[in-house]
Amino acid sequence: MSEIDSLSNQALADIDAATTPEALETLRVALLGKSGSITAQLKALGALPGDQRKAAGEAINRARDAIGSALSTRKVALEDAALDAKLASQTIDVTLPGRDGARGGVHPISRTLERIADIFGRLGYELADGPEIEDDWHNFEALNFPPHHPARAMHDTFYFGDGRLLRTHTSGVQVRYMGEHAPPLRMIAAGKVYRSDSDQTHSPMFHQVEGLLVDEHATFADLKGTLSEFVRAFFERDFEMRFRPSYFPFVEPGAEVDIAWQQADGSTRWLEVLGCGMVHPNVLKAVGIDPERYTGFAFGLGVERFAMLRYGVDDLRAFFDNDVRFLRQFA
Ligand code: DAH
Repeated sequence: MSEIDSLSNQALADIDAATTPEALETLRVALLGKSGSITAQLKALGALPGDQRKAAGEAINRARDAIGSALSTRKVALEDAALDAKLASQTIDVTLPGRDGARGGVHPISRTLERIADIFGRLGYELADGPEIEDDWHNFEALNFPPHHPARAMHDTFYFGDGRLLRTHTSGVQVRYMGEHAPPLRMIAAGKVYRSDSDQTHSPMFHQVEGLLVDEHATFADLKGTLSEFVRAFFERDFEMRFRPSYFPFVEPGAEVDIAWQQADGSTRWLEVLGCGMVHPNVLKAVGIDPERYTGFAFGLGVERFAMLRYGVDDLRAFFDNDVRFLRQFA
């Protein structure tokens, strides 16, 4: 009897002193497991004289129950303590403001395109669209580039095997638009164009905006007025401008537009920013518009050029590297 009592007291003290669930489990096996000390006591009962067996059995069962419940009480206490420790070490302040996510911005080229489209939109020009994979007729033929004319060499064209090509300019959209709309009309077309060319100021893919107006009395004076108004609105500044005669197969007369650009040192320099002219009668004829009744003007510009000037960027390729440190400045 006293053996059971001291075994039980020692076991309860050990259980109380256990500090980890593993230690507790080791105790449980040592006490109540198949070869545990309490189990051994139960097995030994049979060897006792009959008159002692009942009392001893009761004592052992009491001890077993007390140890069993001490084990589970201690287990719960240890688990609670472990959870408390974990909670204390991993506190999260749910009231803290969230970390700011990285926010994107509109690409400077898209921004410039939108700005140009917006200015012409206010002048009544409709935004039109055309395919980047174009056929020879829309890109060259209908624009008065005859099949073997040297003017085609002005454009270093990417061809597909089937005769189609990556459009070399947005002027082809004029042809498509006039095919679908009767004059009077005003449209601009904006988008990607492709030429086999690559250096600091040329990239094999770049963006153009093409503009076209056809009406009964459109004149070169209207063209000059429109483009000066546009340049002033785009740069928010007045410029001295000059229209320099130039050749493009789809206009006659044709011109290049220069603006007097102020340099960092205060001096000015002529910078070419646009091509333009009066729509060639052959172009009107190609789309079934009577050149005796209608006249028109057209212009084309490079979007990267306008973006470089507006933002003071001197290497075109920066727009296409898409280094976020560069792009972030425009966000
Ligand atoms: N398509 C010409 C180019 O890519 C630009 C251009 C020049 C467009 C004169 C025009 C124009 O509409 O009249 O270089």
